[in-house]
Amino acid sequence: MASGVTSVLCCPCRCIFCGLLSCILSVVACVLIVAGLVFLTLYLLFRPHLVHATAASADLANFTLTPRTWILRYNLTVAVALRNPNTRIAIRYAAVQADAYYQGQPFGHAALPEFFQDTGERTEVMAQFVGQHPLEGGVAAAAFRKEAIDHARFSLDVKVRAKMSLKVWAFTVPGPRPRIDCPLLIQRRNLTTGAASTEFQPTDCRVWF
Ligand SMILES: *[C@@H]1O[C@H](CO)[C@@H](O)[C@H](O)[C@H]1NC(C)=O
Ligand SMILES: *[C@@H]1O[C@H](CO)[C@@H](O)[C@H](O)[C@H]1NC(C)=O
Ligand SMILES: *[C@@H]1O[C@H](CO)[C@@H](O)[C@H](O)[C@H]1NC(C)=O
Repeated sequence: MASGVTSVLCCPCRCIFCGLLSCILSVVACVLIVAGLVFLTLYLLFRPHLVHATAASADLANFTLTPRTWILRYNLTVAVALRNPNTRIAIRYAAVQADAYYQGQPFGHAALPEFFQDTGERTEVMAQFVGQHPLEGGVAAAAFRKEAIDHARFSLDVKVRAKMSLKVWAFTVPGPRPRIDCPLLIQRRNLTTGAASTEFQPTDCRVWF
């Protein structure tokens, strides 16, 4: 009977040596392999739903292009809301980086604090981009002028990257690196009065891994 139990414990991994130590080792290996398979299944099952991202609010306090030299001066604040829709996976976000693009050209960068997100939680990360950056090419400058005339509503992109680690029960494992892309249409503040004229419509962001 006892040998039956031992062989049941040992046999899933088909231990070649039948000493006690190799039996223990094979049981440990079995447990690790099963835990790994369970995790892999969960991971594949939940990966597409690890994060829902929305640009919750945005403020384009300044966005001007100097004539001839094409220097873009910007002051942009964007709040990206990240939600963890899972009931079993908690997420730690590290190395969170945000980049702002105009006409496909990166102009601003912001490093954001890392944070932990429990199951079902929603976190807003604020990215502020302030500074100046040269805009390259007449096409981008022409697009800027056109948008400036057309209600000063600019199409910008804010992209967020991070390193995830996933916490499932007591296990913490490295997760994927999501790339979040928020295409935004933001009306610039009135440059003379500083008034923000229209409400920003929260926009869904695309997420891929
Ligand atoms: C950027 O805009 C914010 C308002 O959203 C303002 O408080 C801040 O002073 C501005 N920063 C610069 C450098 O102009
Ligand atoms: C900014 O506000 C002033 C005063 O209300 C107004 O005359 C002007 O047309 C506004 N500018 C733009 C670009 O909306
Ligand atoms: C926007 O930036 C330009 C250039 O830095 C500056 O001259 C202007 O005063 C700024 N406008 C606002 C409303 O901050």
